[in-house]
Amino acid sequence: MTALILVLNGPNLNLLGTREPEIYGKTTLDDIHLLMNKSAAAHGWRLDFRQSNHEGELVDWIQWGRENTDAIIINAGAYTHTSVAILDALRAVDKPIIEVHLSNLFQRETFRHHSYITPAALGLICGFGARGYVLALEALTDVLS
Ligand code: DQA
Repeated sequence: MTALILVLNGPNLNLLGTREPEIYGKTTLDDIHLLMNKSAAAHGWRLDFRQSNHEGELVDWIQWGRENTDAIIINAGAYTHTSVAILDALRAVDKPIIEVHLSNLFQRETFRHHSYITPAALGLICGFGARGYVLALEALTDVLS
């Protein structure tokens, strides 16, 4: 069976490319989707790529992923630093979870240094811009094989 990877993007990531490009780069979310599709196809995997500005919708999708996917890659945006609900939802998923951020959280404001997601994740990739999403797929190679 072809592995299915759920890729979740949180609030404001729909604005990538124009939102604070000096921090997040000029690559759009559609560009990231394309880059990931290429890389996933090379591994023989399928992607389900989604973005929402709503915490509850992200929780619903994580619960959906619990039953229907083989792994989750998540950039929860600002909810990373606030959402116990997303942590609890991820903790209920018995699949590999990779946390991604475009920016290096630890070079930024101190409120960004804490992530509610990391305890539920296999690993964290941050600071490599859009490439971090492709690195997250790479990180799943051994895990999914
Ligand atoms: C982000 C970092 C978060 O602190 C911020 O709220 C975002 C984007 C990143 O990808 O670098 O929206 O998750």
